[in-house]
Amino acid sequence: MSENHVRIFDTTLRDGEQSPGATMTSAEKLEVAKALSRLGVDVIEAGFPAASPDDLRAVQSIADSIGTAVVEGRPRPTPPIICGLARATQSDIDKAWEAVRPAANPRIHTFLATSPIHREHKLRMSKEQVLARIREMVGYARSLCADVEFSPEDAGRTEMEFLYEALAAAIEAGATTLNIPDTVGYTLPHEFGERIRLIKENVPGIENVVISVHCHNDLGLATANSLAGVLNGARQVEVAINGIGERAGNTALEEIVMALHTRHALLGLETSIDTTQLCRVSRLVSTVTGMSVQPNKAIVGANAFAHESGIHQDGMLKNQETYEIMRPETVGAEKTHLVLGKHSGKHALQNRLRELGYALEGDALGAAFDRFKALADKKKTITDADLVALFKDSLVEPKEHFRLDDLQVVCGSMGLPTATVRIVDADGQIRVGVSVGTGPVDAVFKAIDGIVKVPCSLLEYSVNSVTRGIDALGEVSVRIQPEESAVSQRINPQHGESARAPVYHGHGAETDIIVASAKAYLAALNRMLSTRSEGQAENGVQVV
Ligand code: KIV
Ligand code: ZN
Repeated sequence: MSENHVRIFDTTLRDGEQSPGATMTSAEKLEVAKALSRLGVDVIEAGFPAASPDDLRAVQSIADSIGTAVVEGRPRPTPPIICGLARATQSDIDKAWEAVRPAANPRIHTFLATSPIHREHKLRMSKEQVLARIREMVGYARSLCADVEFSPEDAGRTEMEFLYEALAAAIEAGATTLNIPDTVGYTLPHEFGERIRLIKENVPGIENVVISVHCHNDLGLATANSLAGVLNGARQVEVAINGIGERAGNTALEEIVMALHTRHALLGLETSIDTTQLCRVSRLVSTVTGMSVQPNKAIVGANAFAHESGIHQDGMLKNQETYEIMRPETVGAEKTHLVLGKHSGKHALQNRLRELGYALEGDALGAAFDRFKALADKKKTITDADLVALFKDSLVEPKEHFRLDDLQVVCGSMGLPTATVRIVDADGQIRVGVSVGTGPVDAVFKAIDGIVKVPCSLLEYSVNSVTRGIDALGEVSVRIQPEESAVSQRINPQHGESARAPVYHGHGAETDIIVASAKAYLAALNRMLSTRSEGQAENGVQVV
């Protein structure tokens, strides 16, 4: 690989999945892994196999299918490396190996904290014990797999001298990539860059391994820190689509890739990413995780290429480079608003959906066309944003245990808001529920609860107008948590101590926001019921 190539290590399916509520089903993970492979990432960190048997199986299935296939049109003609995370214990490493070994290019990624606060309070290990464990476990991983990555967790707050020793021990034991995590997003760009430079200068054998960076975004500096690392010699960057990950998230793949791409003349560095797929993959990840992308998000936000002010529009009309440093098509963003309406045919809809990343055929296309026509009857013009909102939930939906059939709400200032809902269950039985509530949405949710009978708390409810205008589509997102799960003991693979209960998301889009709310709530309940029947936790992992 050329000196100027920066490897893109994607951890959307591992660190990204550790975002509260972002857990994906196995089918969704496979879908994301396929998209990442097409995008051209070098390494897919597919999960943490020791977390649960389901996690192990999900990584195995990615290793087996995505890790052995060369995707047509993929920038590099080899399957991506499939990586599994493991704590520095023999049993974690065994599980990671079992999961990744079907891949053509498997990797074990093992980690152990090195900072004083983690050594003293979390691990309760001395420096010597940490070094001995690194030697032993990296050596063990290397006895199984030729490609081993080691991460000194919380490297950003580790004493430099001890960091050199830990990294040298990992190299001696056979590590091929050394990842430097700023686990808590504490460092500033000049500091982090300096750390990488010093590591390059002071660790014996470092010239024979790849230096990687893994920056969290607690101070909003993840991309800047990663870039500083690269400028000082790192040649692998660990990233997640849309920047999802623990707490404030990880470095966003799209940001680092486009920084290197846009400033190529200055930096002279390359990645193998097909940038035109960035928006498409961003949408997929947002859909399967239920984590919406803020409109002003760099590169993939809805406003990233929108120009509002008259002065900007005037400049753009004269020369696009006045206000655009990248072309929207370079990242697969749609700048022009498509005019689809009630006179549009199925073919036009299919084409447009394909451009937006939804390949629908046959019955699925027929059903989508019916939904589209229903919306076109209520709304004069249908934009890309409307379409994404309308079809976002038809990609990889969990099993439908309950479907909204009908809904009526009476509300206003003269009486108690009252909702009547008619729901069809998985056996085709029609169930009717009635409830009053503090408002129309509360009444609807309570009426649904009366039918579904799975106690849960509503953590978050948001409604957004997808486009402008009084006839705009309303998009509702909800997050719920089963009530009993608050007491179930869970362990966070990275930090080992926090207890988190699963969170499930649901999404609904309609011109009527009460109907959209009911659909979103049912989608979240369906997701919860499907995940339970798959035996999978949504976030955090069961103690193993
Ligand atoms: O943030 C971190 O330190 C991690 C390690 C497991 C690499 O995610
Ligand atoms: Zn991390």
